[in-house]
Amino acid sequence: MTTIAIRRAGPADAATVHSLIRALAEHQGHADAVTVNVADLERMLARPEVAYLVAERDGRPIGYVSWLERTGFWTGDEHFALDDLFVVAAERGHGVGERLMRAAAEAANGRVIRWEVAETNVAARRFYERIGATLVSKQICRWQPTA
Ligand SMILES: CC(C)(COP(=O)(O)OP(=O)(O)OC[C@H]1O[C@@H](n2cnc3c(N)ncnc32)[C@H](O)[C@@H]1OP(=O)(O)O)[C@@H](O)C(=O)NCCC(=O)NCCS
Repeated sequence: MTTIAIRRAGPADAATVHSLIRALAEHQGHADAVTVNVADLERMLARPEVAYLVAERDGRPIGYVSWLERTGFWTGDEHFALDDLFVVAAERGHGVGERLMRAAAEAANGRVIRWEVAETNVAARRFYERIGATLVSKQICRWQPTA
């Protein structure tokens, strides 16, 4: 019998975190977008507002959820800005994604969790609705000022 455990990743896990992030980017067809390196991640994972939970089957990484703690100007309250949720293809459909989200919810301890999902990611949207999230459509703006 195998065991799935979820734990918080720290700087020592930077190489594992890097390969999981690359795996998600490859799944989304954006492998080139991952420019962070292991040393960058080592520094990021030491920051208190950065959180990364890794799911492991018998010590082998199979998924993750990551977020940043942020403060909203309207309320002054802290919320979790979820960054990624990912389970490797061979492990999907067995509740690992839900366990990761429940672990994030436990860490949030009553704080709101917010994130983005592509309109085209129908399966993930259904998954989020099933766990009780509200999906609101908005446009994402990106601006790379040149001067
Ligand atoms: C979304 C994701 C994290 C869910 O993880 P999971 O471990 O499969 O989730 P669970 O087993 O807890 O729940 C299964 C649900 O995930 C959804 N799902 C998405 N892709 C799936 C797949 N390839 N196989 C099975 N379920 C999938 C299904 O909607 C399913 O919900 P349903 O039972 O209502 O049909 C995972 O499918 C994944 O990593 N997808 C690719 C990355 C992604 O889209 N991340 C979200 C970006 S916002």
